[in-house]
Amino acid sequence: MGLWSRKSIAVLQREAAEEGEQGLRRTLSAANLTLLGIGAIIGAGIFVLTGNAAAQYAGPAVVLSMLAAGIACGFAGLCYAEFASMIPIAGSAYTYGYATLGEFVAWIIGWDLMLEYLFGAATVAVGWSGNFVPFLKEFGITFPAAYANAPFAVDAANNFSRVPGAVFNVPAMVLVALMTWILVIGIKESARFNNVIVFLKMAIIFLVIGFGFMYVNTANWHPFIPPNAGRFGEFGWSGILRGAGVIFFAYIGFDAVSTAAQEARNPQKDMPIGILGSLFICTILYVLMALVMTGMVHYSKLNDPAPILVAVAAAGPSLAWLRYAVEVGSLLGLASVVLVMLMGQPRVFFSMARDGLLPPVFGKVHPRYKTPYITTIMTGTIAAIVAGLFPIGLLGQLVSIGTLLAFVIVCAGVWILRVRSPEIPRAFKTPLVPIVPLLGIVSCFGLMAGLPKDTWIRLIVWLALGLIVYFMYSRKHSHIGRGGTAHSMGD
Ligand code: ALA
Repeated sequence: MGLWSRKSIAVLQREAAEEGEQGLRRTLSAANLTLLGIGAIIGAGIFVLTGNAAAQYAGPAVVLSMLAAGIACGFAGLCYAEFASMIPIAGSAYTYGYATLGEFVAWIIGWDLMLEYLFGAATVAVGWSGNFVPFLKEFGITFPAAYANAPFAVDAANNFSRVPGAVFNVPAMVLVALMTWILVIGIKESARFNNVIVFLKMAIIFLVIGFGFMYVNTANWHPFIPPNAGRFGEFGWSGILRGAGVIFFAYIGFDAVSTAAQEARNPQKDMPIGILGSLFICTILYVLMALVMTGMVHYSKLNDPAPILVAVAAAGPSLAWLRYAVEVGSLLGLASVVLVMLMGQPRVFFSMARDGLLPPVFGKVHPRYKTPYITTIMTGTIAAIVAGLFPIGLLGQLVSIGTLLAFVIVCAGVWILRVRSPEIPRAFKTPLVPIVPLLGIVSCFGLMAGLPKDTWIRLIVWLALGLIVYFMYSRKHSHIGRGGTAHSMGD
């Protein structure tokens, strides 16, 4: 008993099979899951960060940054797929950690996942507000700046300051509240809403890629890898690497599919399809999009909060009609990212509560809607406050480092469980173990290493806070820690 207690796979699988009054509703198909993944993935990353990465770090070779980040996520995705097919429980990486590395590490991942999902939702909501306010302005509506900006700013040297006059980022908060409401009403309703948005945002991306290719000036692709400007990360090969670190954010979300495992109709088969399918489709779209954007306009012009609009504008009046489509597409796209992130978080809490690590109220399912409504509302409230107070840059880096840490642990977990319990049936097997998990660990850790020191410090402070909660509450209430009958140790 204690810190390193593990939950057996048999117990986990039995829990996954449990249905009935208290359970979540199994309604999601492979297509729903893939669309949920795409819903979570395509967002601020492609609509905002591609331009920054091209203009500041990689030039047209941002295409290679895209590929590199996509491949790193691919290694992690293959590991997630094996776990998700074997342990179709709502908690995602938290549950995988409990099965392989013990309660303490599981707690750390669960706590860390808040950075990905809860803070991720807040980050993208801030990005949404940054697009929504200028969009309103085009129609002559001026949103008061005091209520559209975070009251705190962080400069390049990571110093906090107070933004004069700014009170709250109200549009970001309202978006979080709206998405929370949809999530409370039902998983099926949420998935349906997400499906519609995903079709729209993909249609718009196809339009930009299709029409954009006709306006590519191949001279913009030369030199494809601009020579290094003298410092690490400013163009050249190091620029491609730094670009990959920034672009990583664009891929976050495929793993959110795994949090819905308990609501999948046929999780063994469909979870790998959802995780890997969404990642694969988005990688292709991203690479094509990066090619088109850097071909339509010189990369140096793309450092703009709406770089796709810059590329479309460069094509002249004949593509002017595409402008509104891109604007609406990015607003919808970002909204669905917020939705899926806010969906993931309560499901992690749900699993932690069922194990006793969080109070039982976190595991309550609504009698009619069958959603974890209390945690959904709680998550939405905290995410709205974070989105209202903090700037996007600070939040985005925290989200990336937190997600990468979860990926590293999941990759390690797959490998460990293969060694420890090779006999457990796995509906999907990560190929080439231990090479793929190792490559996942190394590449994700490499991306983490590229993030600023202050982000590391914030991660450590966050985890330290988590430890306090663990030792003050969770350890004492853990079902395994108390020797409960619902759980057993080890495999
Ligand atoms: N991948 C998500 C986005 O780019 C988080 O918005």
